[in-house]
Amino acid sequence: MEQDWKDELDDLLKESGSRSRDTIPVLHKVQERFGHVPPEALPTIARRLHVSESELYGVLSFYKAFSLRPKDAHTISVCLGTACHVRGGEQIIQELENALGISAGKSTADGLFTLETVNCLGCCAIGPVMVVDGVTQARITPQAARELLARIRAGEKKS
Ligand code: FES
Repeated sequence: MEQDWKDELDDLLKESGSRSRDTIPVLHKVQERFGHVPPEALPTIARRLHVSESELYGVLSFYKAFSLRPKDAHTISVCLGTACHVRGGEQIIQELENALGISAGKSTADGLFTLETVNCLGCCAIGPVMVVDGVTQARITPQAARELLARIRAGEKKS
C-alpha cells in the first residue's frame, strides 16, 4: 500500500517540471492526486524541484489551496489521565499504535489518522475514554478501539 503511494508520486513527478519555478504546479498536481500534500512526500518533491523542504512548507502554508492533511482526516485522542490510566487507557493507546503503525503524537503516512493522548477530559466516571473526531467513546476496550478503527477505515474505502 505504502509502496503504491510512493510509486504514484514518482510517476507524477516524472511527468512534471523539475525546476524551482515548477513548485506551485507540482504541488497542485500532488494535491489533486492525493487530496492533500502528504508530509512524507515533501523530501521527494523537494529533491525533484531542487528546493528545500522549508521552502515547500512556506508555499504550503501561504496558499490556502494546499493542505498537509486530507479533508476527511480523523483525530483520535486517548485519555491517559489518572482515572483512565488505571482503567486501561495505556492498553487502548498501545492497541491503536499497533493498529495504525504510529506512535502517539504522530499521523499516519497517508495523513488519514492522527493519534494523540490527553490528560483528563473531565468525564473520568466513564473511563477509559477516547475521543474520535470530537465524539467521546466511553468505557472503551482495546477490542472496541480496534473495531472502531476498522469501521472508520471501511467507511473511507466506500467513499
Ligand atoms: S482521567 Fe480520563 S477523563 Fe478524567
